[in-house]
Amino acid sequence: VKLATLVSMARTGDLQLHLRIQRVLNPVYRAFFLSGAASHGVLARLARGPVSFEALAADVAPAPDAHRRLSAWLRVGLALGELRLGPDGYDLRGKLAKQLADPANDAFAALLEEAVTLDRELLIGTPSRLASDQELTLADQQKYGRMVARSSRVLEPYVFEALAGVVPAEGEFRILDVGCGAGGYLRFCAARNTQSTAIGLELQSDVAALAQDNVRKWRLEERVSIETGDIRTRAIEPLFDLITLHNNIYYFPVEDRVDLLARLRGSLKANGRVLITTACQDGQPAIEILNLWAESTKGCGPLPKVTEMVSQLRSAGFTAVHSKRLTPGYNYRSFTGKNESTSRSGCPS
Ligand SMILES: C[S@@+](CC[C@H](N)C(=O)[O-])C[C@H]1O[C@@H](n2cnc3c(N)ncnc32)[C@H](O)[C@@H]1O
Repeated sequence: VKLATLVSMARTGDLQLHLRIQRVLNPVYRAFFLSGAASHGVLARLARGPVSFEALAADVAPAPDAHRRLSAWLRVGLALGELRLGPDGYDLRGKLAKQLADPANDAFAALLEEAVTLDRELLIGTPSRLASDQELTLADQQKYGRMVARSSRVLEPYVFEALAGVVPAEGEFRILDVGCGAGGYLRFCAARNTQSTAIGLELQSDVAALAQDNVRKWRLEERVSIETGDIRTRAIEPLFDLITLHNNIYYFPVEDRVDLLARLRGSLKANGRVLITTACQDGQPAIEILNLWAESTKGCGPLPKVTEMVSQLRSAGFTAVHSKRLTPGYNYRSFTGKNESTSRSGCPS
């Protein structure tokens, strides 16, 4: 390119625009490539050392006429710096690629998958849905249920800390986990207190099936049961020492939350507690995307504001209401409240 062309482009601002777009596009391409490679087992395959093209093709692209496409796709990975090609074949070069290849980091692979599927669709599709006054439905999310259950696990260390504050290490203790997802928090509680018992309630049947499989795998069937159902229609009986809602208070409209909380209070024994863990409104992009999803989905509501959640817990009759920030740099919080009444006056009729 001639210097004069560059100077002219710089003058009009076109050169800066090219550079700015490039800076945005490369991370987007990286996210798409890594997500595809992680969710189809390619990262895991390459993590075990250099793999020849033939061996890789035999695993991931068995049709002979697919080999040129595989080769072109691998070249993208090389160009992004995520793959390396040596004398013995392909292996992983990027740090993130190596970490995502580790099954222990599955929650982060799911988070990336969520960004390039659900979040992508949400952000790109919102203007046209606004123009035609269309809302999303929870049924639209059904196909992502398992992925969301997997990605929610990135919050585990923070939720574990909050649970350790309310689940005693010993003694009989009965827990209801509303919207239990894959059941990881039920597992934590069962390990923390080996005399505890729990019910995991889950609205989506395929997610409930995943939780049930996990409970079986973890050999907890005797102490933990999974119910498919909706907390809004579940019978109210004061049976539980602790009711938890992790990452789902925004599945309920703001105006229904006091009734929901009162219903939970009615299901608690005297002096039982509720624990809610949730992202709260704060202006961070990841939080605003979650808020957009909740605002766009029929029957859901915005992420809570801290003062609003505290006052709703009090309005539902909870005492000793506390809120605590659980993560650095991200407004992820716990809210706790106590059911001090010994009567069932807190039950909605
Ligand atoms: C984002 S996921 C979180 C799952 C799990 N609590 C976690 O933190 O990993 C929210 C879950 O709440 C469930 N849920 C939403 N509304 C519910 C309701 N009314 N009754 C029971 N479960 C509900 C959804 O089906 C979904 O699986």
